[in-house]
Amino acid sequence: MATFPERVFSGVQPTGNLHLGNYLGAIKRFVALQATRPCLYCVVDLHAMTLPFEPAQLARTTREVTAAFLACGIDPKANVVFNQSRVAEHAELAWVFDCVARLGWLNRMTQFKEKAGKDREAASIGLYNYPVLMAADILVYRATHVPVGDDQKQHLELARDIAQKFNNDFSASIAAHGHGDAFFPLPEPLIQGPATRVMSLRDGAKKMSKSDPSENSYIALTDDADTIAQKIRKAKTDPEPLPSEVEGLAQRPEADNLVGIFAALADETKANVLKRFGGAQFSAFKSALADLTIEKLAPIRSEMLRLSADPDFVDSVLADGADRARAMARPNMDAVKDILGLVR
Ligand code: TRP
Repeated sequence: MATFPERVFSGVQPTGNLHLGNYLGAIKRFVALQATRPCLYCVVDLHAMTLPFEPAQLARTTREVTAAFLACGIDPKANVVFNQSRVAEHAELAWVFDCVARLGWLNRMTQFKEKAGKDREAASIGLYNYPVLMAADILVYRATHVPVGDDQKQHLELARDIAQKFNNDFSASIAAHGHGDAFFPLPEPLIQGPATRVMSLRDGAKKMSKSDPSENSYIALTDDADTIAQKIRKAKTDPEPLPSEVEGLAQRPEADNLVGIFAALADETKANVLKRFGGAQFSAFKSALADLTIEKLAPIRSEMLRLSADPDFVDSVLADGADRARAMARPNMDAVKDILGLVR
């Protein structure tokens, strides 16, 4: 198949109150990737409409996630930082993909089943269609690499299936329009590192989530030092000391989670962390973990607070990013229209 220039795309939903899981599982990896390839980082506000939402909150959280991107170290000049709804090509390509994707493919999406809950008939069409829009987000830029959490793997596979089917179904027209044997790349997920999935501090079997009823279950990026220390001190553990080998973390989800968080924050492997802390009691490990978390989050917190007082700057970043994103997306969308015989 044709080769495509490498390009990274990822999205974060503007759901507000970003936490350590969002940072370690997504944003910290976005920061690392910016040195490797051109990157687009998108606040996916259209995806946030798939579940009930408050308009005033949507605007606020869109700016908040943007501030978090910047505070964590994403450079808005070297990369493209923008909000999805500003670039109409995402929704435009999503319609094309609606006509490519099959009902049977979407019926297999496990996240829809989880989010829709028992009363599936009452779910929005947007929630059902969520992964098709996600495929359009990525492919409208012909992005090749997508850093995502574990839970998004199935959606990435769907994006690949859609790209593949488009390339197959319209292969003659793709070639006739000078695009060789494929118009879309098959985007690859980038899922690696010790904490791609950060779990709740109160229950090692549940994902860290800001919608958890217990605030002690997550560390918000804007928590102050005392709050962080207290939440880590209260984190659920088991009575055994820490193991010296990674294998010893099996069946110990809470210990595994805390060691994973330490490793991700320190840019080390879990094995290395256990070399240092194997045999230690949780009290000692937790206090080292609290110190490290506070050290890493303090500059992010203060920058987020500074940016929240400067909404004009944040808005100017989004406006500029959207202009640049649109300039990349439009030629691709026009090529898709030509391939499909849509007169323009
Ligand atoms: N579904 C992703 C999540 O919840 C967010 C998202 C939307 C996304 N569009 C995307 C991620 C495109 C990567 C690429 O995490």
